[in-house]
Amino acid sequence: MTGRPRADDRGAVSHIITTHCLSKTYGDRTVVSDLDLRVPEGCVYGFLGPNGSGKSTTMKMLLSLVRPSTGEVRVMGRRMQRSTRRDLLRDIGSLIEAPPAYTHLTGGENMRLVQRLLGLSDGQVLRAVRTVRLQDHLDRRVATYSLGMRQRLGIALALAREPRILILDEPTNGLDPAGIEEMRGLLTHLAGRGITVVVSSHLLGEIDRTATVLGILGQGRMLFQGTREELLARSVPDVLVDTPDPDRTAALAGGWGAVRDGPGVRVPGLDHDTTAELVARLVHEGVAVYGVRREEQSLEDVFMDLTGGGGL
Ligand SMILES: Nc1ncnc2c1ncn2[C@@H]1O[C@H](COP(=O)(O)OP(=O)(O)O)[C@@H](O)[C@H]1O
Ligand SMILES: [Mg+2]
Repeated sequence: MTGRPRADDRGAVSHIITTHCLSKTYGDRTVVSDLDLRVPEGCVYGFLGPNGSGKSTTMKMLLSLVRPSTGEVRVMGRRMQRSTRRDLLRDIGSLIEAPPAYTHLTGGENMRLVQRLLGLSDGQVLRAVRTVRLQDHLDRRVATYSLGMRQRLGIALALAREPRILILDEPTNGLDPAGIEEMRGLLTHLAGRGITVVVSSHLLGEIDRTATVLGILGQGRMLFQGTREELLARSVPDVLVDTPDPDRTAALAGGWGAVRDGPGVRVPGLDHDTTAELVARLVHEGVAVYGVRREEQSLEDVFMDLTGGGGL
């Protein structure tokens, strides 16, 4: 099979990258475990997880820089293996760990090195440089660039060959808020041009508004994969009971983990059915219930619950 997989008759999303049971073991430690990645074409895929959860290792396996212990990677429907590797990697630009530029050279000199290496046209290089808005800084040595500019140069180097996929490992790491905002804008812009962007971060807040699909890793396992809305749907809100008899309410709802909270009572993580059960019980026991309020979780809370907050 060659070329891009099309959406099937039922209009299912076509995935530009998939993995099946992808695992990596170092010695007796499994650092990536049975990963089934599904990256829809043209999206910004936010690959999230605490430090050490296996994001970089996974991205390196996607790029064939680390050999999977088991499982497979498919890019545009074709299996990544020795015979297809060169061909598939032509369509993937990447920025893994430190920006790859030579700091004693200027930005322009770095771009020319890659241009010569890959046989690119002047137009391709100029387009990449303009995309990351470095055209006015090409004569400066990279050593004088800010971290944000270095990251952008790294992306220009990856973009110059006009790949269909960009894989960026923590490009917002260490950037100030303005740099992070600029990076978000750039990723959205790239996706708008049809480039699929896979971007990792250990901080949900750095990419959640940019990414349309999220994959959340914890200890090498996929804890969640889907849209932001699907993640929010997992939210289990706390329930706040307003009552003149909080002590009795807390005692009656003790089995659900109820605690006194200000003048009322807080019962953590209740779904709809359990909330109804709680109210029925209180009323049955003759407790006056003035009000019941569900306190929705933020996306950050859901993320923290999923990942256990480790390393964040
Ligand atoms: N070459 C390696 N040899 C042994 N262990 C490794 C190697 N590379 C990564 N690890 C371990 O794998 C785990 C996942 O690492 P990594 O993929 O870098 O996580 P993340 O990018 O999410 O921070 C970590 O515990 C790390 O120490
Ligand atoms: Mg990493």
